[in-house]
Amino acid sequence: MKDTLSQSSTEHTDFASQLPVEKTVFDQVIDRKNTGSLKWEKYAGKDVLPMWVADMDFAVAEPIQNALIDRLSHPVYGYSVQSDDLKQTIAEHLKAEYGWTIDTDWLVFLPGVVTGLAVSCRAFCKDNDKIMVNPPIYHHFYDSHEGKRQSLVKIPLHKQGTRWTYDLDSMRVACANDLSMIMMCTPHNPTGTVFTQAELLQVGNMCAEHDMMIISDEIHCDLVIDKSSKHIPTAVACPEHADRIVTLMSASKTWNLAGLNTSFAIISNASVRERFVSACQSIVPSTPPLAMVATQAAYAAGGPWRQTLLSYLWDNYKIIESELNTIQGLRLEPLQATYLAWVDATDLGLENTAAYFEQHGVGLSSGEQFGQAQYVRINFACPASVLREGLSRIRSAVEALPG
Ligand SMILES: Cc1ncc(COP(=O)(O)O)c(C=O)c1O
Repeated sequence: MKDTLSQSSTEHTDFASQLPVEKTVFDQVIDRKNTGSLKWEKYAGKDVLPMWVADMDFAVAEPIQNALIDRLSHPVYGYSVQSDDLKQTIAEHLKAEYGWTIDTDWLVFLPGVVTGLAVSCRAFCKDNDKIMVNPPIYHHFYDSHEGKRQSLVKIPLHKQGTRWTYDLDSMRVACANDLSMIMMCTPHNPTGTVFTQAELLQVGNMCAEHDMMIISDEIHCDLVIDKSSKHIPTAVACPEHADRIVTLMSASKTWNLAGLNTSFAIISNASVRERFVSACQSIVPSTPPLAMVATQAAYAAGGPWRQTLLSYLWDNYKIIESELNTIQGLRLEPLQATYLAWVDATDLGLENTAAYFEQHGVGLSSGEQFGQAQYVRINFACPASVLREGLSRIRSAVEALPG
């Protein structure tokens, strides 16, 4: 059964003594070198701190590791199916966190959310169809469609006050041009926006008016670190449009399981689900047994760990905020979710900002891959001591620029 503590996880408190897992757990610096880590191998043998790809430098929650060890002790790792228990655990998590009642038949398991984006393009788009995306956006939104067979219509987000959000007027104009689908990212990577009920409903209404499918990538849903915001699944924000919505989720970002290949789609409409499942045939492998074990442990028993994680990430975000505010030429975009800081480096006037920082010992994601070349993205899911070292390198790099 789901731990009751996990049900109040979005109400995480700043009082360390009230947190269910000690914050010091996240202070531990773990050497990830020589573990085949994509994030760390990129700079093997170099003095560059990796703060790029979206995985965390934290150990997984104890219940997850224990469940994996337990499963590994059985020596047969054949093809696996998803247990009713796992499906029920996911349904309970969605109910507890988002008030979303799903039927477990709606779940389609996948080895990754990016797979879900690619499958959606194949399932719901024909040749010459147009798909809307809203830059800046996670780079796989640009390459999940079928090469030249479909094209992307890019309508950038715009800034309203301090938040990046949908430019609905421009989106409506574009929709008149016979679009078949939108791929949304909510909460949003890289800006960290948590969209409101009203914003999601407006997008839903627009898509319904133009008979468009909605693919909602909600991989960051359990990572809302600003207590004043709350994630609302798109299908919950606009239940009247649920038949056209495919929601993609995973425990992988929040519980640091990216290497285990685990995710799932939630599709309430049976014929939409059938099209999705049939597009998976012979292409998408079954989900590995360890992925299922880890996912179940995460949702069933990882709530207390997550509660402390969110608080720790918020503290790290505050460290970035106070540091970057004193580095001339860099401007942090306020965020509500994710552990990815979106930083405007326009005023540095560099041609390739990420490459410049790399030369000065810190590996950031270049904004170019998300569609905003003058930005960099900083992954701050690391011990605070490592974060401070990274920020100090960023400061030195900026100070080394000719006046
Ligand atoms: C918005 C978004 N979608 C999908 C992914 C990757 O998902 P997966 O590893 O499950 O394919 C990421 C990873 O950072 C992401 O930020």
